[in-house]
Amino acid sequence: MRTLAHHTQAELAERATRAPLLHIDGVTKTFPGVKALDDVSLDVRAGEVHALLGENGAGKSTLMKVLAGNHQADRGRIHLEGEPIRVSGPHEAKHLGIVLIHQELSLAPEMTVAENIFLGSLPRRALGFVDFRKLYADAGRILDRLGCRFAASDKVETLSIANRQMVEIGRALVFTPKIVVFDEPTASLTDAEKVVLFDVIRSLQAENVGIVYISHRMDEIFTLSARITVLRDGAVRGTLVTAETTEDEVTRLMIGRALEPRSRAQARPAGKMALEVKGLSCGDLFRDVSFGVRAGEVVGMYGLIGAGRTEIAETIFGLRAPDAGEIRRDGEVVSINSPPDAIAHGIALAPESRKEQGLVLSMSCRDNMSLSQLETVSRAGWLDRSAEQAIYDRYAERLALKSPSWRTPVVNLSGGNQQKVVLGKWLGTAPKVLIIDEPTRGIDVGSKSEIHKLIRELAAGGMAVLMISSEMPEVLGVSDRILALYHGRLAAEFDADTVTEDALVQAISGL
Ligand SMILES: Nc1ncnc2c1ncn2[C@@H]1O[C@H](COP(=O)(O)OP(=O)(O)OP(=O)(O)O)[C@@H](O)[C@H]1O
Ligand SMILES: [Mg+2]
Repeated sequence: MRTLAHHTQAELAERATRAPLLHIDGVTKTFPGVKALDDVSLDVRAGEVHALLGENGAGKSTLMKVLAGNHQADRGRIHLEGEPIRVSGPHEAKHLGIVLIHQELSLAPEMTVAENIFLGSLPRRALGFVDFRKLYADAGRILDRLGCRFAASDKVETLSIANRQMVEIGRALVFTPKIVVFDEPTASLTDAEKVVLFDVIRSLQAENVGIVYISHRMDEIFTLSARITVLRDGAVRGTLVTAETTEDEVTRLMIGRALEPRSRAQARPAGKMALEVKGLSCGDLFRDVSFGVRAGEVVGMYGLIGAGRTEIAETIFGLRAPDAGEIRRDGEVVSINSPPDAIAHGIALAPESRKEQGLVLSMSCRDNMSLSQLETVSRAGWLDRSAEQAIYDRYAERLALKSPSWRTPVVNLSGGNQQKVVLGKWLGTAPKVLIIDEPTRGIDVGSKSEIHKLIRELAAGGMAVLMISSEMPEVLGVSDRILALYHGRLAAEFDADTVTEDALVQAISGL
């Protein structure tokens, strides 16, 4: 695989002066109640990684969906290799060499990897029969190129999220692509999988493909991109050369202010043990896990993806049955066999996967937020709309939810704003114990610090919070204590005031 490192400085300098491969000019797109894109222009050169950055709801995904034919612009032009193009649908975009790897994966889970990769363009023999030999051979070559270890004949539903992502990328390679767009590709990847993805990106780059890279992670953007375009409220606020700018400058353009310095969690007198887990085990997922969370405390649970963190949370919340162990609430052993049991004991779980567990996409923002608290908002069997509205108003404001109105169906929100609705929904239940799984995945940097503040405030108000996260700064910045998990076991426990990054990394790597 040829990587960027193999290019000489002269080659890179030459690239920077090339005419754009892709030129988006004055694109405007309106949805009912929202001007999602306002006269947006952007160009991408061959072999360039161009980062697209902006707050949740700024218009990043919409712009790329216009490019890839998923949406039609109201106004504006697109040129590819100097020629004007009209992209009327995703299939046509692919034939032109424009591929979008979506923020929400769009595979058919019950079909094989090969069928998914070649969906819509299956190789045919005479009489129109699918040529399965060719299909699997071609798909196998694409998987090899991506360094994938699974087979082209595997069903997609058996793959991990990361491997599904690889299948999506595989789709991009069927037609020799000219432009590949990655929309938040690393949200659910482990560090090892990110390395593979970055290699793929660099090899596309070496083949002179133009790449648009959307992410909320500054470290990735500064590692990969040559230029950064910042969108805010649907308009371009600036295009910067990555080597000549800083995270601060980019953040200011993005959210219109600098971020407050991260404040360390303050030590406070902890209350009584609100949640205690003793010897909890569940098959191969985790074994003999014991810990406690006091009222008024945020306990961070840190570990690699796959270490068993989410499974522990699901067990406490009654979604999984443990083989052994007990759960105590305020010192009393409780029996939790289902989520309603957990909720009755004052435990809430804000899950990590918003699509599958958190939201009813067709319902309004307000109704989604009040779903988990039907008791609070129903009086004598009637829904109390004003109570529902109060909950919505409160959390929409605190979380800076960007939605045209409370009526807007959640499906029409941007990815990060959907995550905010999930948070609002569980925060609004005012539980005694809140378990929150990857609270800021897909959330922009400005809202992220707001959410961190909100979590601290909830704890200050007496809530016991167990926060699962794979982001070191988040765990260090928000928690009072940190539990490190390694392969389904509690490897170590740290006081957040004295722990070092090295110690944490060692603990979660089993060293
Ligand atoms: N299909 C749709 N119907 C109505 N409104 C939409 C639709 N898709 C997006 N929007 C609105 O357009 C705006 C831009 O959304 P977009 O998804 O492009 O944001 P984004 O920058 O990708 O944000 P995120 O970082 O959260 O993914 C938002 O206000 C969103 O609610
Ligand atoms: Mg998006």
